[in-house]
Amino acid sequence: MRGKFITFEGIDGAGKSTHIEWVAGRLRARPGIPAVVTTREPGGTPLGEDLRQLLLHRKMHLETEALLMFAARREHIAEVIAPALARGEWVISDRFTDATFAYQGGGRGLPRQRLEVLEDWVQDGLQPDLTLLFDVPLETASERLAGAREPDKFEAESRAFFQRTRDEYLRRAAAAPGRFRVIDATRSIEAIREELGQIIATL
Ligand SMILES: Nc1ncnc2c1ncn2[C@@H]1O[C@H](COP(=O)(O)OP(=O)(O)OP(=O)(O)O)[C@@H](O)[C@H]1O
Ligand SMILES: [Mg+2]
Repeated sequence: MRGKFITFEGIDGAGKSTHIEWVAGRLRARPGIPAVVTTREPGGTPLGEDLRQLLLHRKMHLETEALLMFAARREHIAEVIAPALARGEWVISDRFTDATFAYQGGGRGLPRQRLEVLEDWVQDGLQPDLTLLFDVPLETASERLAGAREPDKFEAESRAFFQRTRDEYLRRAAAAPGRFRVIDATRSIEAIREELGQIIATL
């Protein structure tokens, strides 16, 4: 039986990485799941991690950025995600295609139809079974990131950029309520984990 594919989404500083290993640990403790793989985008493969360095630090045309995101994703699906799912393993990815729609589409304004063409090409029908959208206002996210690390190309973007990115995430969640769960990530880590535990118990 194919494993389940779970993605974590949300703007920078929302709290995705804080919870991913916790969720993986919960699932690993459950009988019947042969393995739980955690991974991230852009990245997840050696080539993908090289592309990540370019994507996060080099200036480039918006469409180049979108194409490289999907190039890294193609590799990630071929090398990591699809083989694991085929073995019955579960895969949790820190960001996936919703991030491209939110950042390159919402944030930067690339027409959604362009991204949908690439999504069809690269994913060939593969979609997450569950997407957890960690949602916080921009103020909360930027307070959490302040001083945490040197901002990358995206983290240095304007407030308006992140507002459009967050709005696009929320629009996509509303358009696909069966796949998304929107997590109010302004709450304490403990409160969020309680909700995450309930959500994954239903999988
Ligand atoms: N619920 C929370 N309450 C308070 N602080 C939090 C909460 N969740 C995460 N943080 C803190 O906020 C910071 C950002 O969290 P985290 O790295 O998980 O965000 P992220 O969504 O993975 O961001 P990025 O997209 O930039 O990787 C971290 O320092 C983390 O400890
Ligand atoms: Mg993170």
